[in-house]
Amino acid sequence: MKVLLLLGLVAVALCEPTKFVGDKVLRLTPGSEEDVTIIREIGHTIKVDFWKPDSPDLVTVGMTVDIHVPAAQLDMVFTILQQSGMEVKVMFENLQEAVEAQMDDKRATKAHDYTKYNSWATINDWVVSISSANADLISRQVIGNTYEGRPMHLLTIGKKTGSAKPAIFMDCGFHAREWITHAFCQWFINEAVSTYGSDPEMTNLLDRMDFFVLPVFNIDGYEHTWTNDRMWRKTRSRNSGSSCIGTDPNRNFDAGWCTVGASSNPCSETYCGSSIESEIESKNLANFIRSNKSIIKAYLTVHSYSQMLLFPYSYKYGLAADHSELLSVSQGAIAALRSLYGTRYTSGPGAATIYPAAGGSDDWAYDLGVKYSYTFELRDEGRYGFLLPESQIKPTCEETMLAVKYIASHVLNNL
Ligand code: ARG
Ligand code: ZN
Repeated sequence: MKVLLLLGLVAVALCEPTKFVGDKVLRLTPGSEEDVTIIREIGHTIKVDFWKPDSPDLVTVGMTVDIHVPAAQLDMVFTILQQSGMEVKVMFENLQEAVEAQMDDKRATKAHDYTKYNSWATINDWVVSISSANADLISRQVIGNTYEGRPMHLLTIGKKTGSAKPAIFMDCGFHAREWITHAFCQWFINEAVSTYGSDPEMTNLLDRMDFFVLPVFNIDGYEHTWTNDRMWRKTRSRNSGSSCIGTDPNRNFDAGWCTVGASSNPCSETYCGSSIESEIESKNLANFIRSNKSIIKAYLTVHSYSQMLLFPYSYKYGLAADHSELLSVSQGAIAALRSLYGTRYTSGPGAATIYPAAGGSDDWAYDLGVKYSYTFELRDEGRYGFLLPESQIKPTCEETMLAVKYIASHVLNNL
């Protein structure tokens, strides 16, 4: 009887989604090397979840550091921080409340909606229906399956001309918890097909080039954020010799792999994987880009949050050969973005602008020969972080469209 009860409890514990009752998100501003050391110590010894940067080792003096501290660790973390005298701001008093508040009405409807966060099942049905409803502009293919066997749908958007056109590749949802990015890819696809023929810029783009859009890269991780743990980041693959799950897919590419800003510990949020492209999702994407290398002129990968537009390099401080052009295009793109609602972005090479981190898909694509390689870090700057309210989906997507179109037009005019 006791055994049965215990089994029951274990089963409930396994199925129940992770709750964040009483957890807080703190913003720290380390003013000295001592403060940096303290934050790293906290990160290495206490179970806290780094939101920004992605891991304790990336913290530097003067940076804003956002950490999610589980309720049980708060006393310890506050004691350490108080002794240091470091500046601490509480961004979320009770994270569970924010998780619940993030969606207007909690899964009242399963119907697809561009101004809501859609589950994978809803997105998957939508991918099929929008493609067949716009057969003149969209074609659909599967570039492979995820670790858990879900199909990675890739949509090709552009006027079908019968000959190979230059193309821009864009993906969303590398990191599972960055939900605004999944929303953006869906918005982009809809906006492209519904403004074709009326918006001269979009019409010209789709007449003369194609967009390859992968709306959800890390599908298994995304599903996990809906069912088990809203704050999941990595893939869901098993790691041999460890009970920790997943690899950081944006540390898994052949670009200074696992040298800086990445960890070889499978329990780390920035685990680089057991080898380059160890993740099937990375391999599927890399294989597609390699086989279409001659036509892919730009690679855009969408992350959140921080409001930044980054370009190579991140695995080293050295400047890209095309640095001045990449910089001026990024500046034009963020100016276009800002023109709509005044949202301020910063832009620059990854290593110097956000932090050095090797193994990213942007650097890999650039070194493969895709010149216009950019990483977006969408809204916001930390007020809501990964829990951006649904009311911000529309403005975020509208302004981001302007930046993407700016980059695409530059690519088209410089073929
Ligand atoms: N937040 C992103 C990440 O850490 C930034 C990516 C910038 N590019 C890079 N190759 N590290 O994955
Ligand atoms: Zn990310």
